[in-house]
Amino acid sequence: MWGGRFATGPDAVMREINASIGVDKRLWREDIAGSKAHARMLGAVGVLSAADVEAILGGLETIAGEIEAGGFAFSEALEDIHMNIEARLRELIGEAAGRLHTARSRNDQVATDFRLWLRGALGEIEASLTELMETLARKALAHADTVMPGFTHLQTAQPVTFGHHCLAYVEMLARDRARLADARARANECPLGAAALAGTSFPIDRRATARDLGFDRPMANSLDAVSARDFALEALAAAAIAQGHLSRLSEELVVWSSAPFAFVRLPDAFSTGSSIMPQKRNPDAAELVRAKTGRTAGSFVALLTVLKGLPLAYSKDMQEDKALTFEALDALALSIAAMTGMVASLSVNDEAMRSAAGAGYSTATDLADWLVRVAGLPFRAAHHVTGRLVALAETRGVALDALPLADMQAVEPAITGEVFGVLSVDASVRSRTSEGGTAPANVEAAARGWLARLDAETAADRT
Ligand code: ARG
Repeated sequence: MWGGRFATGPDAVMREINASIGVDKRLWREDIAGSKAHARMLGAVGVLSAADVEAILGGLETIAGEIEAGGFAFSEALEDIHMNIEARLRELIGEAAGRLHTARSRNDQVATDFRLWLRGALGEIEASLTELMETLARKALAHADTVMPGFTHLQTAQPVTFGHHCLAYVEMLARDRARLADARARANECPLGAAALAGTSFPIDRRATARDLGFDRPMANSLDAVSARDFALEALAAAAIAQGHLSRLSEELVVWSSAPFAFVRLPDAFSTGSSIMPQKRNPDAAELVRAKTGRTAGSFVALLTVLKGLPLAYSKDMQEDKALTFEALDALALSIAAMTGMVASLSVNDEAMRSAAGAGYSTATDLADWLVRVAGLPFRAAHHVTGRLVALAETRGVALDALPLADMQAVEPAITGEVFGVLSVDASVRSRTSEGGTAPANVEAAARGWLARLDAETAADRT
């Protein structure tokens, strides 16, 4: 009754909307590992014969080899990675392949694969963040006493050191890394054995499969096991925050490498030219890292929206989780690599930073503090006196330390020649010795502290 007109059209579209193989083939290693653990467990509890287990494990090995070698034909008709592998297993070993899916469903299978994949991906991102932190800490050590303007509102505020600025990012990235590690630890529970949603009547051993796959424990509730995706959401939230930090640093690189600032120069390897303006050196990598924040934050919001309002347990909506997660974590991994390359290879223009650090009356606070400390003025009064001196210097078009002492004394008689000792940018940063402050001695100690910690971590990882 529907006629030939409809018979194939909807099928093709249905196939297209339903298939996820293009995205989830990336889970093949995890899918094979999960299947092997499941088969071994079924053998151990007596659900499968030893011969079947052996055939299944051998067949899965062969498939892994085929995929690795690029000789595996992925088929859209077989929907996803799970069915692609199972179908090939049947071709290879025949009937025993059909017994692998005993006491299992694609619902617990995909949740297991995805958790395994995420665990690995987060571990790699954490390691690359460690490398970026090390790179920044090394830059900080090399520039512990390189003065630059510190900004608020992007207006010159007080001199700081470039090393201090680098270490601010090390602190942020350390928190990012901890958030990702936390998400990884929470994701490390095993859904396998929840089956479709209710568990199974077969005498399976979920602890054995969890242990086999390196999970901390089996998930406690079968409905939760197949419907939870907060492990991915949490990773995406942490990734979006980390990407946001990289974006802020990117923005600074864009500003700092611009001609009016000229604080840093990115090497040719991390710059691009313009097809019309021969003088241009564009910081494209920094701009793209900044831009990718849109994707990462977008993935988080998209997955949150997909999951919101889904009834328990599995719904096909959840298939969208992987593309979003892959996209965000790929973007973050690439951004970290690009940022590490840029930071490692940028050159610092000490003179440009120094001259900008002294501009804009950046040591006015030092003058006010001196009036408090030496002349005994209340801070508010000192602030007012300093404001008048800045206005005076501005009218004359000179820096604060170029005002004659007599002119200063006309504004505030308590000022002595000693004041000139605090008006240079070097004296300013040297004086900021409070805990966490920008004094070069602090920065050097903090950079060394970070390098020692990161070194100890890497050494501990190796043992
Ligand atoms: N490809 C599916 C996914 O990624 C696997 C689970 C399918 N389960 C199902 N009941 N149709 O979500």
